[in-house]
This record gives sequence, C-alpha cells and structure tokens, in this order.
Amino acid sequence: MRAVSANLLALLLFCTCACVFYVWNSLEVSRLERYTRGLQSASWGTLHPGPPSDLPVKTFRALLTVPAAQRLHFGDGRQYVHNLTGVRDQTGSLGSRDYHINVDNKESAQKGVPESNFVSLVEEGIFWSEWLEDRLPVSFSEKHARAWRERARGQRIVKLEPGCGRISNQLATFLDGTKACVRYGINADQVQGETLTYYLAGLLGITNIPPLILSQLNVDSEQWDYVRRKIFSLQWSERAVVSLTEWVANLTGVVTPEPLRQKSKGLLPLPGELRNQTTEELVELMQWTDLIILDYLSANFDRLVSNLFSLQWDSRVMERETNNLLRTPRGNLVFIDNEAGLVHGFRVLDMWEKYHSTILGSVCVFRKRTAQRVIELHRRRDTRTRLLELYRDSEPLSPELGFFSDEHAGVLQTRIDRVYKHITHCKGMYHQL
Ligand SMILES: Nc1ncnc2c1ncn2[C@@H]1O[C@H](COP(=O)(O)OP(=O)(O)OP(=O)(O)O)[C@@H](O)[C@H]1O
Ligand SMILES: [Mg+2]
Repeated sequence: MRAVSANLLALLLFCTCACVFYVWNSLEVSRLERYTRGLQSASWGTLHPGPPSDLPVKTFRALLTVPAAQRLHFGDGRQYVHNLTGVRDQTGSLGSRDYHINVDNKESAQKGVPESNFVSLVEEGIFWSEWLEDRLPVSFSEKHARAWRERARGQRIVKLEPGCGRISNQLATFLDGTKACVRYGINADQVQGETLTYYLAGLLGITNIPPLILSQLNVDSEQWDYVRRKIFSLQWSERAVVSLTEWVANLTGVVTPEPLRQKSKGLLPLPGELRNQTTEELVELMQWTDLIILDYLSANFDRLVSNLFSLQWDSRVMERETNNLLRTPRGNLVFIDNEAGLVHGFRVLDMWEKYHSTILGSVCVFRKRTAQRVIELHRRRDTRTRLLELYRDSEPLSPELGFFSDEHAGVLQTRIDRVYKHITHCKGMYHQL
C-alpha cells in the first residue's frame, strides 16, 4: 500500500513538473518569435527598403521608392557608438597593404560549414569571424604588389594586343613574358579614378585590386620603344599617363550572390541565414562586403549599382555576371576597372546616390579590419591626407597625374562618415545576438 502511494505521489510530482516546463517553454518560444519578427521587420525597414504596398512588388522603382523614415540610419548616433571603439586594431597602421596573414585553406573552404557549435560565423554582432577570415585565400599581398610594381616599372613592353576589354585598353606583354592591362583613359579623370581607387583600397586594407603602376607614354623610352608603331596606330598621345595593372590568368565571371539581390532581405548577421551558405560562399560574401564598402566610398557605379539601375528594363540582370568583377580559381574576387571611382563617380553622384545607399544599406556584416579602418578615418578626419601620402609615397608619377580636388576630398570624407554611421547602426541592431 505504502509503495503504491509513493508511486502515485511520484507520478503527481512528475506531471506537475511537466506542466510547468510546458508553460515556460511556450512562453519562451513566443517571446523568441516576437523578438525575431521585430528584428526582421526592423532589418527590412532599415536595411533593405521594401516596396510600399501600392507599388508592384519587385520592380526597380518599387525597390527605390522608400519612405524617408525607412532609409539608412546615417544620421542617428545611437548609444552603441562606444562599442565600436572596442574593435581591436589587429592590423597595424593605415596605409600598408600587407594585411593578409591568412593561410591558403581552400580544402576546408570547400567542405562547407561544419555543424560544430564551436564554429562562429559572426563575432561581436556584425563582424565576419576569425574562423572565416582564416579561410580567405591570400589576395594581392603587399609583398607581392611591391615586387610586381618594381618589376613592371623598369620592364620593356614587347607586345600590345587586344585582351583587356575595349580598344583603349591593351594587353601588354613584358620582356619576361608576364602581362599587364594598359588603360589609356579618354581623359585624365579615368586614370585618376582607377589609380586613386587602388590606393583607397590600400588604405582600407582591401587587397582585391591587382597591383597598379602609372607610366608616361614615351616612344623613345626603353619601356615603350619596342611597341612604338602600335602606339601610333592606337593614336595614343605622347606623354599621356596610363595605368598598368597586373594581368591575372584564369579569371572567371561572378554572379551577384543571392543575399545581395534585390529580392533578398540583404546580408544580415543572422546565424540562421548565414548557416545556409557553404564556407566557400561565405568566404566570397565576406569579400563582397569589402567591395560594397569600397564602391560606396568611391561612388563607383560601374558594378553592382549599374546592375540595380538596369533592373528597370532587365529584370534578370542580377542573374548575369557582374561588371568589372572576376574571380580567381582559388576563390579570390578581383575588382577590375575602377576608373568610374572617386572622380567621375563623385561628379555624377546626383544620379547614382540612391542606388549606392540602397546597396550599402543592404549589408550589416563587415570585415573587422575594414570597419576598423573606416572608424579610424572617421575619427581622425584625415582621409585626404592619408590617401595623398600613400599615393605620393608609392607612385613616382603622382605629380604628373595629380590628385583629386579638395571638393572631392570632402565628398570622400563625408562618405567615410556615412559608412561609419551605418556600421554603428548595424552594431546597434545586432550586437546582442
Ligand atoms: N587584370 C586583369 N587580368 C586579367 N584579365 C583582365 C584584367 N583586366 C581586364 N581583364 C579582362 O578584360 C575584360 C574587360 O576588362 P575591363 O572591364 O577592364 O575593360 P572594359 O573596356 O571596361 O570592358 P567592359 O566594357 O567589358 O567592362 C575583363 O572581363 C577580363 O576578361
Ligand atoms: Mg569594364
């Protein structure tokens, strides 16, 4: 009898515990759901402006017609700003390009994200994790770029031929058999845009642009005399300053990844969404986030922004390869043809700014190092000085080509400040996740 009572008592106790657990669990799930819904609606409103309901969904206009309150939070200095100061500078001072200390880890990049709880994709709410950073193959390192630039400066060009796009760009072969793309700008602005964007990337620690040098056309010089007849036939002016960038073999086209297309929510640091991607895809997305910051800062419309623009008449443009973006077989993105950046891009900002903002606003995860550089440039307000120093110290022909105007330097600093505010905003949104 006593045993039966004890069993009944135990059963009663078990049922009570089960009920309490069930009620608590339901409350917790609905709290989480509310939180996630709130987060998603916030991210849609703020980061990737959705179309108002009276417009046909998924049209280009719908994408861009955004109520002012839903636009990027460029103006709100929220209370999370202090958190950003906590970003460690792991990379040394601004101006050096030698930041890639990563090992070539392609093998693991192809295996997909392990299901391990220990693998984190995002750190501190908005930064790609160190685990992912370690899987990014080395791009054009400072050491490589310096060696290439030194070699290219003194080398004789033995052949000029098509192979680098339009006729004003020529594929040059050096005496040692290596190659470069020579870009002869229709005006100096294009060469300046190309060159200063390269150095701006250097300032930010972005190493996806092939090494670049300037050269002044002179058919009597050792570098150009062998191809003098070709230069005449191309009608290139003597003394013009052209840029030469390292030619890279086996590059292929790149289609905009799903999270960055207009129908997606954007690239947000939500573990659920990122875990759907393979490691290889994540490593590429990480490089896209650098590209988006660089193109925003330089107002380069000749890549993703022009795709967004073309959606008006070509609804499948995002499914095609992106302009001026290529990929190496190891998975490095190569940002080519940056001549629309900084100079021309700033001149036509009125037309393109809304597209630039939309794209920047769609991304809320960044490389820590790049964010760190933006934060420093925002704080010190010395982007012009640092860019000029780096350009002057690295390029002997900088006096010949010149630098951009003070007005454009002001535009660049303002854009740095906006990216900073956007990073701050993202930190505020996601630092608790
Ligand atoms: N550094 C490089 N290494 C290898 N190939 C290159 C390089 N730069 C350009 N190319 C090749 O030339 C093509 C066109 O390059 P680029 O965009 O610089 O010229 P473009 O005249 O603007 O051409 P487009 O109008 O197609 O953009 C690229 O798609 C690529 O195939
Ligand atoms: Mg091009």
